[in-house]
Amino acid sequence: MDRIVSLAKRRGFIFQSSEIYGGLNGFWDYGPLGVALKRNLKECWWQDMVAGHDELATLSGAPSPYEMTGLNCTIIMHPQVWKCSGHFDLFHDWMVDCHESKKRYRYDHLQGRWASHRDKKVFVTTDVSGDDALSDLVGKAQKFFKLRAKQIDEIVWEGELVPLAGATPAEAIPRAEALGPDATEPGTLTEPREFNLMFETRIGALAGDADDRAFLRPETAQGIFVNFKNVLDTSRVRVPFGIGQIGKSFRNEITPRNFTFRSREFEQMEIEFFCRPDDSRSWYQFWRDRRWRWYLDLGLTEGRLQLREHEAAELAHYSRGTADIEYAFPFLADGEYGELEGIAHRGDFDLRSHMEGKLVRRDGELVLETGPDGKPRHRGSGRDLSYFDDVSRERYVPHVIEPSAGADRAVLAFLCDAYREDSVPDEKGNPRERTVLKLHPRLAPLKAAILPLVKKDGMPEVAIDLYRNLKKRMPCMYDEKGSVGRRYARQDEAGTPWCLTIDGQTMTDNTVTLRDRDSLSQERVPIAECVDLLTERLQ
Ligand code: GAP
Repeated sequence: MDRIVSLAKRRGFIFQSSEIYGGLNGFWDYGPLGVALKRNLKECWWQDMVAGHDELATLSGAPSPYEMTGLNCTIIMHPQVWKCSGHFDLFHDWMVDCHESKKRYRYDHLQGRWASHRDKKVFVTTDVSGDDALSDLVGKAQKFFKLRAKQIDEIVWEGELVPLAGATPAEAIPRAEALGPDATEPGTLTEPREFNLMFETRIGALAGDADDRAFLRPETAQGIFVNFKNVLDTSRVRVPFGIGQIGKSFRNEITPRNFTFRSREFEQMEIEFFCRPDDSRSWYQFWRDRRWRWYLDLGLTEGRLQLREHEAAELAHYSRGTADIEYAFPFLADGEYGELEGIAHRGDFDLRSHMEGKLVRRDGELVLETGPDGKPRHRGSGRDLSYFDDVSRERYVPHVIEPSAGADRAVLAFLCDAYREDSVPDEKGNPRERTVLKLHPRLAPLKAAILPLVKKDGMPEVAIDLYRNLKKRMPCMYDEKGSVGRRYARQDEAGTPWCLTIDGQTMTDNTVTLRDRDSLSQERVPIAECVDLLTERLQ
């Protein structure tokens, strides 16, 4: 992971936000190569899911043909949106503070083990996850018991690594005996408290009282639900259809971590797919499988991906089924996976919430939540968001299937998956170590580099001419600096799939060398065919 982060910085994929001021935790900037990679990824999603969708065909596994359309909503929406969606009351994590270190941790991220040395016993905790957690605990215990390195075997460990919160509340570790991850004495961690993850802001110059609070959206989905009727009334779409949106979301994560994986500002690519309640199960299965295939088609290694259906206990109260597409990120311990995308069967929860008001589940049914005065806790819009099917002559509230993906997490997964270190022969046939990003050509920031072998004998002129022709079709670069081996190496690190080299032979027979990043094959191609050939390979 360290090497991937270092490449991302060195080659201008991802920088820490506001780095010259020391950086801002949980915020990331995309540099010249990174912005191209992320745009390509979003463009692939938009093209494959929305713009390029063929509504006349029945896709494999789909119950019927369906339509797709797009939307772009604001980041700040009417505060009532978040009250009805449940985010205002429920979108929180549990956190604990440390009195001594003044640090804040996510309660569910703290884990530890009982350790004793002579007559002292303590529950040592860490917020490190994955394989490094155990070694981190040893270091913390050594410090607490004031031992030298050669004495660490004297520490007696009891039991396995367990969450501070315990498997059940009754099993939570007593706070007085827990040593905080950055504390020198036990008993400095507070009881867990709720922390709403929505960023707050205020609208207008006279901001002041609590009621003018507004929120940065924590998901793009709600903008789609509240525009459901607008889309229906203004376009010709009929159920079943989906609305796709790509945009920024914000969550005030307590402990952003693992590079861009858990950020405070990130982008989502979400589809809300509206269908007849009776068909919803089949549509859920269709979307789960379709989204799984999408990652594979763009080159993620199948063995590092996992499709995980949630257990009943893990489901949100409105959900009738959720599956996560997860990736074995290198910062996780062996056997652990991180979520790339969730595909959820949300029933009619969202449209009903925005009609009636905030809903809760009671005796298996979703009902309007009321306050002590018997009035709705959060009032809905009162607008009718039901749908009249003019073929079956039925009126119903459509059910929703939601494939919700994170663009930043997908970029990170594709970067991690593409990163390889291998050895290739240099110009003299000697092995040379190289770092290469084996990105799918659709994702690669640059599709080709045009390299004159030397800066003379008419080669640059021919190369520049080819560069200008190719640039009209795809992002590419012209590079004449350094040995050709070094230039190949630079392109390999940037993930450029093809290099076109103009050499002495070009000047006699009008062919160039086309080098393939992955197979390292070098074929001679007539210069006049290069643009069409690469355009075809890209497609
Ligand atoms: N509308 C449903 C929804 O927002 P979610 O599972 O909370 O569901 C969907 O988020 C996706 O958004 C996740 O699978 C992940 O890829 C991305 N995501 C969520 N929180 C994120 C964060 N803090 N940083 C980066 N990506 C995040």
